[in-house]
Amino acid sequence: AAPGPLAGHHVLVTSGPTREAIDPVRYISNHSSGKQGHAIARAAAEAGARVTLVTGPVSLPDPAGVATVHVESAREMLAAVEAALPATVAIFAAAVADWRVADVAGGKIKKGPGGPPALSFVENPDILATIAHRKQGRPDLVVGFAAETENVLDNARAKLARKGCDLIVANDVAVGTDTFGGDSNTVHLVGASGVETWARQSKDAVARALVAELGRRLAKA
Ligand code: PMT
Repeated sequence: AAPGPLAGHHVLVTSGPTREAIDPVRYISNHSSGKQGHAIARAAAEAGARVTLVTGPVSLPDPAGVATVHVESAREMLAAVEAALPATVAIFAAAVADWRVADVAGGKIKKGPGGPPALSFVENPDILATIAHRKQGRPDLVVGFAAETENVLDNARAKLARKGCDLIVANDVAVGTDTFGGDSNTVHLVGASGVETWARQSKDAVARALVAELGRRLAKA
């Protein structure tokens, strides 16, 4: 068979949610299932790439032929991503918690007369921005996602600029869209040259189309 369009490339993909501990038994997280990120990892492997998938806790099997690293928190995900570099392409589909609890309790927080605990938060590292702003060892193509419930395109353009990536895949995650956890997705590719909207399709089809697009961009570079 002919070598795939990504043959000879190392592709790094993040997927799934992160979990941020409150105490040894509780955490905060989000509704990411990993379906979109895992589909991208599979599609990149099918296109001939060597693929590393860094995933938060999901109930999906590890994709065949993909080196899969399991993490829980955002800080663990950043460390695993840095350990997996260098890569020619990095695609950040994970739904990383923006904040973590400032003081994780060492023991289970007890219910008591004092009422519910007041949690305070600190910001997590931004994995995408950290990698995209690297001076050395930056992947040739850094692709972020934008999960928005309103002003999808404006927010995606702002993320493209702020995070320093080459392309943003924007999707609407408002209630009723079924983007989190569902099997299909409507995405907008937001890049320096404008916006391309793809008709709603399966997450597998989004993944294959994205991988094909990245293959074309690498060939041009
Ligand atoms: O997993 P599924 O159920 O299939 O759902 C797919 C999805 C909705 C999770 C996926 O398509 C998606 O949109 N992923 C990005 C979710 C997200 O956290 O988006 P964001 O707009 O908050 O973040 C923007 C970008 O920065 C993302 O590429 C994210 O991975 C990255 N990020 C965010 C925060 C952070 N601390 N580190 C990051 O790297």
